[in-house]
Amino acid sequence: MHHHELDGFPQGFLWGAASAAYQAEGAWNVDGKGPSIWDGFCKQPGRTFQGSNGDVAVDHYHRFREDIALMAEMGLKAYRFSVSWPRLYPDGRGPLNEAGLAFYEKLIDTLRAHDIEPILTLYHWDLPQALQDDYGGWESRRIVADFERYCVTLFRRLAGKVRFWVSLNEQNYNLTNAYQLGTHPPGVRNRKRFFQANHHAFLANAGAIAAFRDLVPDGLIGPSFAYSPAYPASPDPRDMLAFENAEEFTNHWWLDTYCLGRYPGAALAYLRKTGEAPEILPGDRDLLAQGRPDFIGINYYQTLTYADNPPDGETMRGINTTGEKGTTPASGVPGLYKTRPNPHVETTNWDWAIDPTGLRLGLRRLSSRYGLPILITENGLGEFDRLERGDLIHDDYRIAYLKDHIAACREAITDGVDLLGYCVWSFTDILSWLNGYQKRYGLVYVDRDERDPKDLRRIRKDSYFWYQKIIKDNGGNI
Ligand code: NOJ
Repeated sequence: MHHHELDGFPQGFLWGAASAAYQAEGAWNVDGKGPSIWDGFCKQPGRTFQGSNGDVAVDHYHRFREDIALMAEMGLKAYRFSVSWPRLYPDGRGPLNEAGLAFYEKLIDTLRAHDIEPILTLYHWDLPQALQDDYGGWESRRIVADFERYCVTLFRRLAGKVRFWVSLNEQNYNLTNAYQLGTHPPGVRNRKRFFQANHHAFLANAGAIAAFRDLVPDGLIGPSFAYSPAYPASPDPRDMLAFENAEEFTNHWWLDTYCLGRYPGAALAYLRKTGEAPEILPGDRDLLAQGRPDFIGINYYQTLTYADNPPDGETMRGINTTGEKGTTPASGVPGLYKTRPNPHVETTNWDWAIDPTGLRLGLRRLSSRYGLPILITENGLGEFDRLERGDLIHDDYRIAYLKDHIAACREAITDGVDLLGYCVWSFTDILSWLNGYQKRYGLVYVDRDERDPKDLRRIRKDSYFWYQKIIKDNGGNI
């Protein structure tokens, strides 16, 4: 699909940056928007770091022109953002709220006016609260039709303006948190319910892609998957089996279903034995088969290392939300696998393994297993940043992280991977879901004074100027 030189980034490579509606927009109840499941959840005591929420976030809703001006100055080629379903359908279905759609039309027109390619994510976790209340959200099959209707509205109205579309963002990470760890709304811990809700999300994904084929024939669509390639803790055959189990349950369970239209066999057989397998109705397989994407979107942050886990071993555990190194508990599925720290790689303050080689080998694994182009829809470093006198943010640690990961992309392209683009997470600092505003990913700092949340001044970090240069040279100086 691309003509590239043997070495280096192809012409037209999408040098991008990303965000998501709930994390950036704010304006949570403005212009007819209905509440999403995150609006309520973040306000329950003890759910998020210091009770932070996205009511105001970084007010991208009102400041998008200023943000796009910063993108244009940087030379950004693509901006990935998500549409908030409850802005368009305050009750999840019912009549369309034109004012909600108008915001995204303005956003897209402004991007286009600056030659920035919009990459539109249809679902980045902010389900309309009404659908959760009416029928249990993803736990009901009714969501498949409602999601399709919402998507079809966007396909019809934006087909001529948007070429790149992301269906579901991190279905794997979001629903695992929502239904196994209980840390995302609706806060359930039940594996049977998890696999069923997840099955409906696959059907919704496939239904949306099937509708897309007719309505946006020139566009490209794919899911964004939270991809953590698995490593074995050792060559001990028991660890090797645990590693295979982890690949099958944490990666192929999703990617095979998206790309091949079927669940991987060993995992499905296991879940049938434990009684946790989803109910698959006649017709489901046909629908899944219609969902083959045009590209695989991956959000890459880290690899995970797995060891044998006895039947009475580790269970699923929560994550580090404090930024205190070394506080992430081991987590696993008894009898299948458990996580282990990897002694060969450095970690962030949130215990995420920093592993650019893992990106290269992950790209190769996906490319050879599925034979599809890949779009890196997210990659970046969450850290505490320090605003220094004179409006300076010296985030050399972020520059080092991005540099090594972009170099890994370049190697993967040389290895033969068809890579469409690379989006830094995130463009400006934004809300980090459970971690509040202290875990920052942006190329642009947002001075978010909690006492005066309206002062959300944007300040370019060192990484902003660094990425500007990378884009200008089409990655040539990496
Ligand atoms: C993935 C998610 O898509 C995004 O919303 C989140 O903030 C980043 N990862 C960082 O954790």
